[in-house]
Amino acid sequence: VPYFTFLIQLDGHYTCGGRNLTCIPPSIPSSVEMLDFSFNFLPTLRRTVFPQLYNLKLLDLTRCHIHHITDDAFHNVKNVATLILTGNPVSYIGPDGLNSLRKLQRLVLVDTGLSSLNVQFNNLTGLQELNIGTNNIQSMALPPFMIKFRDFSSLNLHANNISILRVDDTDVLRRMRGNITLILSRNPILYIEPGTFQNLHLRELNIRSAFVSLDAQRDGLKGLGGLNVGKLIIGSYREHHSNTKDINDLDGLCLINFEEVYFFQNKWLDLSSHVFRCMVNATKITLKQGHVRVIEPVPFRRLKELHIDKNRLEEIPQLSNIQSLEKLVVVNNNQVLFRGLRNMPSLRHVDLSRNQMSLGSCCFRYFSDTPNIRHLNLSLNANIMFLAKPFSGLDLLEVLDFHHTEIGVVGQFGLLQNMKNLKYLDLSYTSNTFSSTSSFSGLTSLKVLKIAGNAFQEETLGYLFENLIVLEVLDMSNCGIDRLVWRDFRDLQRLQHLLLSQNRLTALDFLAQANLPSLKQLALDQNSISSIPQNTLQNLPKNLSVFDLSFNPIICLCTQRYLIQWIIKHQKMFPKPHNVLCKTLQTDSKMRAIEFDIESCIHAPIRTLVLSICAVLLFVLASVLVYRFQFYLRYGCVLLRGYRASRQQECSYDAFVIYSSKDESWVMDELVENLENGIPPIHLYEGIMGSRKIIVVISKHFIESSWCRFEFEVAQSWLVTQGNANIIIIILEDVEEEKTKKVFGLHKHLKKNTYLKWSGNPISNMRFWIRLRKAVIS
Ligand SMILES: *[C@@H]1O[C@H](CO)[C@@H](O)[C@H](O)[C@H]1NC(C)=O
Ligand SMILES: *[C@@H]1O[C@H](CO)[C@@H](O)[C@H](O)[C@H]1NC(C)=O
Ligand SMILES: *[C@@H]1O[C@H](CO)[C@@H](O)[C@H](O)[C@H]1NC(C)=O
Ligand SMILES: *[C@@H]1O[C@H](CO)[C@@H](O)[C@H](O)[C@H]1NC(C)=O
Ligand SMILES: *[C@@H]1O[C@H](CO)[C@@H](O)[C@H](O)[C@H]1NC(C)=O
Ligand SMILES: *[C@@H]1O[C@H](CO)[C@@H](O)[C@H](O)[C@H]1NC(C)=O
Ligand SMILES: *[C@@H]1O[C@H](CO)[C@@H](O)[C@H](O)[C@H]1NC(C)=O
Repeated sequence: VPYFTFLIQLDGHYTCGGRNLTCIPPSIPSSVEMLDFSFNFLPTLRRTVFPQLYNLKLLDLTRCHIHHITDDAFHNVKNVATLILTGNPVSYIGPDGLNSLRKLQRLVLVDTGLSSLNVQFNNLTGLQELNIGTNNIQSMALPPFMIKFRDFSSLNLHANNISILRVDDTDVLRRMRGNITLILSRNPILYIEPGTFQNLHLRELNIRSAFVSLDAQRDGLKGLGGLNVGKLIIGSYREHHSNTKDINDLDGLCLINFEEVYFFQNKWLDLSSHVFRCMVNATKITLKQGHVRVIEPVPFRRLKELHIDKNRLEEIPQLSNIQSLEKLVVVNNNQVLFRGLRNMPSLRHVDLSRNQMSLGSCCFRYFSDTPNIRHLNLSLNANIMFLAKPFSGLDLLEVLDFHHTEIGVVGQFGLLQNMKNLKYLDLSYTSNTFSSTSSFSGLTSLKVLKIAGNAFQEETLGYLFENLIVLEVLDMSNCGIDRLVWRDFRDLQRLQHLLLSQNRLTALDFLAQANLPSLKQLALDQNSISSIPQNTLQNLPKNLSVFDLSFNPIICLCTQRYLIQWIIKHQKMFPKPHNVLCKTLQTDSKMRAIEFDIESCIHAPIRTLVLSICAVLLFVLASVLVYRFQFYLRYGCVLLRGYRASRQQECSYDAFVIYSSKDESWVMDELVENLENGIPPIHLYEGIMGSRKIIVVISKHFIESSWCRFEFEVAQSWLVTQGNANIIIIILEDVEEEKTKKVFGLHKHLKKNTYLKWSGNPISNMRFWIRLRKAVIS
């Protein structure tokens, strides 16, 4: 298979990873800038591996089984700025191998089996970032030539085998330009010689999980004394050797000058309440996943941001009077106590969500002299009781979030009126019933309103959103709404997202008239909509691009063809078209609207037409056949009637007469008269099967009548099957011999002279009747 079939191009980024290729496809255009060639097979990297790609900036050779890199290996890709060699078991790199990459800025040698940094890359003076994580390096000392690397900014030694740091190890680092990020996380550090970091300036130091034990960390922090660092990331160590918690565990931090500190704990660790003591000069503190119960207040002087996430705090720290604090985030504690914040003129952002707090007399009492708060998040707490005018003095509030906190009364008393700056209000699942039509009046800046999971008093809905003229997002999911009218939304001309999921709506007629020109998203999933009229579909807002109809009982019938066709045609609008389901009788069976067979609706009329034509043709054919074979049918009836009669009275009739209707007068006047009225009377009958004898009246008419001929034939075959041939032939008038041959079997009778001949002569007639009577009775 030619290689180029594996090549995928995405915005000048070529990727042909994971194909076990043994050379770079020569079909790659020379303009390529990024090439992902990971997971292929290039045991020896040499010049011939690469076509000339002088525009290549990024080359990813992750896990290509590279053992050898020859001197001229990168000759054809010499302008690469980022080289990724992760996961290759490199055992040899030629002295000029890497050095020819004069423009290299980023070199990634993660997991390449390096045991030291004696790789030749001395000419790469433009190098900015060296990642040699996940190797077996035991010293963080850098080679002296790196002093010349003017732009060097990041050394990643994550997950190596560095256990001891000595003063000499930072020699080169100290003589470099500074402002470097040093990552030592996940090393087994046991000891740091005092002075190793003295007067060193780093942008960032990551020593998270860098110590073998708590004891090593305690001592190691002291070894970091004198370091100046922008951002310090600490916490967690490999093994929990020491069970003794010491209030001095983090004292070493006091010897480090840092701006920001990130303290992460993997395991629950009962930190001392003195955790902040050495952070007093920090501007930003993040404390995550500790076991902190109580925090001793410290006089922060420069603190701007404090994040405390997932701890066991019993109380929100008493942080009042921190003039510099701008952002306070204390989240994920359990049933924490909050006594309020005072005198924090810079405070803008307060997030106390997820704390299971209960607050009474909210809210301005908890925030005094904090006039600049713009963002207040009290969501996911237990319950909050409001005072009248709960936010007076907090006039700049822009964001208020109470979702999933019980605050009951807001919807009854319109407590949030006239907050002129409010832009975002989340009251979802707050156990409110909106009965006050002025609940949101005066919120003239409101852009986002979320009131999912609450209830409305029927008549309020028509007024609730009056004057919210800049509203862009309205979430009314799960509010038990069963009907909406266009007037409910008459002022919302800027509305872009309308979320009505999980309600009980059955119709969308409000949409056809509603003036929602800006609407982009309409969520109607999990309602009870079974159909949407064509005119509603035609009048949907022009900019609507997301329309969710998932899990509605759409009636999938040909009568709704336009709707299903519309859904199929506009599938791109549906976030999950497969969830647009048809109404079915069984609740567990799923039928997707987009799988409905529209073709069947289009073909059904044609099929009906074809079937109708077939039916007409069949009818015509049947009529023709009936007409053609009417004798047979009629005769069949006759036979059947006689047969039925014969079953009832065994041969109660003496003779059956076959004659032409044109000879009827003779049959009635002469034959019937003479036979039935003579002594003994002879009964004539109209069904062969009920009769013992058959009288055939031969005449010209008889010979000409196909009906008579047919009757005669049937009679003969009937008598043959009965085993006796009791046919009595009467020749009423002479018939030409030729013609008698037309009647099957007649000629035979005539030849045998077994017939009676009628003549007008009365004497012969007498003899005729005697002989006939004898023949019938015998
Ligand atoms: C990749 O190629 C090498 C050498 O051609 C071969 O030994 C190996 O089995 C191949 N691997 C796969 C997954 O095809
Ligand atoms: C590396 O730099 C030295 C000295 O500047 C130079 O002589 C040598 O050619 C360079 N090597 C490569 C491969 O560019
Ligand atoms: C890590 O270094 C120590 C010596 O400091 C050595 O004994 C140990 O074997 C090394 N670990 C590995 C995995 O090479
Ligand atoms: C250090 O690096 C950061 C980020 O690259 C930069 O914003 C800052 O100005 C640098 N500081 C010095 C002193 O070079
Ligand atoms: C905080 O800064 C002050 C003044 O710069 C200094 O005296 C004090 O030692 C510092 N405290 C800590 C814990 O770094
Ligand atoms: C409020 O906090 C909750 C939970 O931490 C979060 O999901 C939500 O996005 C926050 N609200 C705002 C407006 O940032
Ligand atoms: C519809 O979308 C277009 C393009 O995003 C935008 O320019 C236009 O203003 C929108 N119309 C309305 C009424 O919002």
